[in-house]
Amino acid sequence: MQIVSMRVNQMENPIGFSLRDPAFSWIVQSEGRKQTAFHVQIRPQYSSKLFFDSGKVFSDLSHRVRFGICPEPGVRYYWRVRVWDDQGGDSDWSQEASFETGRGKAPWKAGWIGPDQEPEAHPLLRRVFEISGTVKIARLYVCGLGLYEMYLNGSRIGEEYFTPGYNAYDLWQQVQTYDVTELFHSGKNVLGAMLGNGWYKGRFALDGDPDGPGIYGNQFALLCELSIEYLDGTRQKVCSDGLWRWTEGPVLDSSIYDGERYDARREKPDWMLDSCDDSSWRPVASLDLGVSLLEDRRSLPVKITQELPVQRILTTPAGETVLDFGQNLVGWVRFRVRESAGTELLLEHGEVLDPQGNFYRENMRSAKTRVHYFCREGEQQYAPRFSFFGFRYVRLTGFTDPRPEDFTAQVIHSEMERIGRFHCSEPAVDRLYENTVWGQRGNFLDVPTDCPQRDERLGWTGDAQIFAPTASLHYDTDAFYHKYLYDLAREQEKNGWVPMYVPFCRNIPRDVAPCAAWGDAATIIPWTMYVYYGDLSILEEQYDSMKAWVDYEAAQAGPSRIYGGLQLGDWLAQDTNDPDNFYGATPLELVATCYFAHSARILSKTARLLGKSQEAKAYHRLFQEICDALYREFITPSGRIVSGTQTAEALLLNMRLLKKEHQAAAVERLTLKLEENGYRLTTGFVGTPCLCPALAENGALPYAYHLLLEEGYPSWLYEVNRGATTVWERWNSIRPDGSLGAVNMNSFNHYAYGAIAQFLYETVAGIRPDEREPGFHRAWLIPRPHCRLRYAGADLQTPYGELSCSWELRDRELTVRCRVPFNSQARLILPDSEGVELVGGGDARRLDAPGDARFDLPAGAYQFRYRPNGKTIFQEVEQKLVRLI
Ligand code: BGC
Repeated sequence: MQIVSMRVNQMENPIGFSLRDPAFSWIVQSEGRKQTAFHVQIRPQYSSKLFFDSGKVFSDLSHRVRFGICPEPGVRYYWRVRVWDDQGGDSDWSQEASFETGRGKAPWKAGWIGPDQEPEAHPLLRRVFEISGTVKIARLYVCGLGLYEMYLNGSRIGEEYFTPGYNAYDLWQQVQTYDVTELFHSGKNVLGAMLGNGWYKGRFALDGDPDGPGIYGNQFALLCELSIEYLDGTRQKVCSDGLWRWTEGPVLDSSIYDGERYDARREKPDWMLDSCDDSSWRPVASLDLGVSLLEDRRSLPVKITQELPVQRILTTPAGETVLDFGQNLVGWVRFRVRESAGTELLLEHGEVLDPQGNFYRENMRSAKTRVHYFCREGEQQYAPRFSFFGFRYVRLTGFTDPRPEDFTAQVIHSEMERIGRFHCSEPAVDRLYENTVWGQRGNFLDVPTDCPQRDERLGWTGDAQIFAPTASLHYDTDAFYHKYLYDLAREQEKNGWVPMYVPFCRNIPRDVAPCAAWGDAATIIPWTMYVYYGDLSILEEQYDSMKAWVDYEAAQAGPSRIYGGLQLGDWLAQDTNDPDNFYGATPLELVATCYFAHSARILSKTARLLGKSQEAKAYHRLFQEICDALYREFITPSGRIVSGTQTAEALLLNMRLLKKEHQAAAVERLTLKLEENGYRLTTGFVGTPCLCPALAENGALPYAYHLLLEEGYPSWLYEVNRGATTVWERWNSIRPDGSLGAVNMNSFNHYAYGAIAQFLYETVAGIRPDEREPGFHRAWLIPRPHCRLRYAGADLQTPYGELSCSWELRDRELTVRCRVPFNSQARLILPDSEGVELVGGGDARRLDAPGDARFDLPAGAYQFRYRPNGKTIFQEVEQKLVRLI
């Protein structure tokens, strides 16, 4: 028996985070089935005296276990766990894992500092100090406005980028904690900082004025406190104070949208070392910015997670030199160069080539997305640090003889653990799946953004909620969304108003109406975290926000319970005749009211879980009233929906808002509409993710596969066949004649339509959470094979370990394999198994139920083989139109 993967608040050895009542998780590898007891011990660093001892607790809890403890600020704790299983086995104590609290609200000795006059380039700041003994522990606490990078004696502190992160700086500011114990030497030491613009003070946000003030402020600022404890027990603090000096550095300018300008001739190689003569540096000014907004960090670290080489260097028809990295990604290019001093180099970033094969970047809109570099003498290496780009292609200007080996793309995003993998027999579907993963990687840079390249990159709430389940199957997103939802709640108005994107920008009027499907992120994302990760704490934390949002919708709807007003509808649907219509043909009130119902139901379930039974009942009543209103307004007594769109049918089916007796007719109409449309996708953000699940769940499996595997224009695989390496924003981002969609809104890395990956995991492979025992403590395994694929499967690192399900069809015989991790269980439904003989299954327990065979699977590995009755697996789509004629 072995304990692996110990986490606190779903992070590995976190440091400096807001960690009140931390949640402890561990995964056990064991031959047994269930954990029967656990024992957790927690001790502070440098102490053998326990801070907490749970004793032996008879419980199967192993995920997000909370003890109601309140660790002290600024302390590292070590914890270990041992467990017992149902076979009489017990484990040894695990290795120790750690967590370290942030400094919390401890008073600051440091003050904000910055340049004493408007700098012409980004500032470097430094402070020399002496140490007087052997350092036992040293921590650096920092916040910067906008971005900062810290150095101690020439070493960069930490491996993170874009600190202190992206949040509503006018409401709270994040403090990072770094362990710098190992970075000192005796005598004189130097602490250095480089500051950049970032989200705080750079050009950012829709309609951001390139020359205007930053959204949150205009001043570069640094606040830091280096806290040293010596072996002899004495302590020392080195703070941001009037003893620091500053000068202008090599970064001439930076902007999230526009990139970085850098003059290597201005580099001061020893600026962060004692040897640097800083007599010409200026004293810093102390800034009156206050410390009341400072809080322990919540953002996950943003790191370089992969490096990609150049695939080819092109000379385009226009005669330009363009690097092709073969993958649309987010990050930057690190390059090595040797040109004469003063040579100007330009790297411009683009996602696609134009129909002629030339470099294209018009879809970046006003974002310059470029690196402008002035060489110094000799060989030099450079990568930007205060901007990022969404790109596959890079146009080079000024390079004499660029060689592929001199360029490396560095992929950056928030550090999350990859947990899900899917594969199947159709390479194009596998590529589609990979594209959805890249979509997440590109758009999870501290905030879930709509797109990572143009002058937008905002945390649009609608996009975020649509993609949340998919994202939470690809990666462990629990800590990531905790921070996003914290932002959301902080920016929500008292009347429940939720910004259209989070963080919202201070320079946009706050009375811009939120709308359904976007504001519903307030309820849907916390619920997703609960269902996929069993995270009850997020429901506790977000309950007021969830309730305020539903109350807001109710107030907007009034007694009619029909939610209308300004809405984005089925955003970007192509089902009207007007190519400039963004909202689609489905009535806006229909979309909004469905979401209103969905949120009211989520809220009612949440209230029940939190023991708020009165509110649970009240919101359930509200949910029923909204359903009645939907019927009164949009559905005839016989079940026909007034809107003729695919989205209307799919949304009502998928959200289970149609009466049982009306579901079959809705599916029938939906399949007819799909056929009429030649199985081409024209639904928008709201309708698209509903289509395949609605079909598969309601007896129309072959239609779901048909849609998934369609290659005509527009379809998911059309994009793949056109070489897409991420998911496009619009179905017509590239048309069949090669022409590109409207430049005013055409991203090639928008994750919303990538939500199809949820269908791949949950329906094609069949792995689904069971919300009655969330976080896959109990899972559903309901694979839905179809003969258009030969095999498919997925594995998922759940909070209990690896859960997998795969199937293979050979000579009309089906093999289903699955694995259930220790301390969880699954209920398996074998497709098309009614009335057929099954081989295998080991000690799976068959349930006595009519229809397809059902099994309860305790932890273990299973295999079944049989000749399916073929009711769904070999069913073909019908040609209904022919029949009708
Ligand atoms: C974004 C979308 C977003 C939408 C809503 C667009 O500009 O890119 O993804 O949801 O605006 O208005």
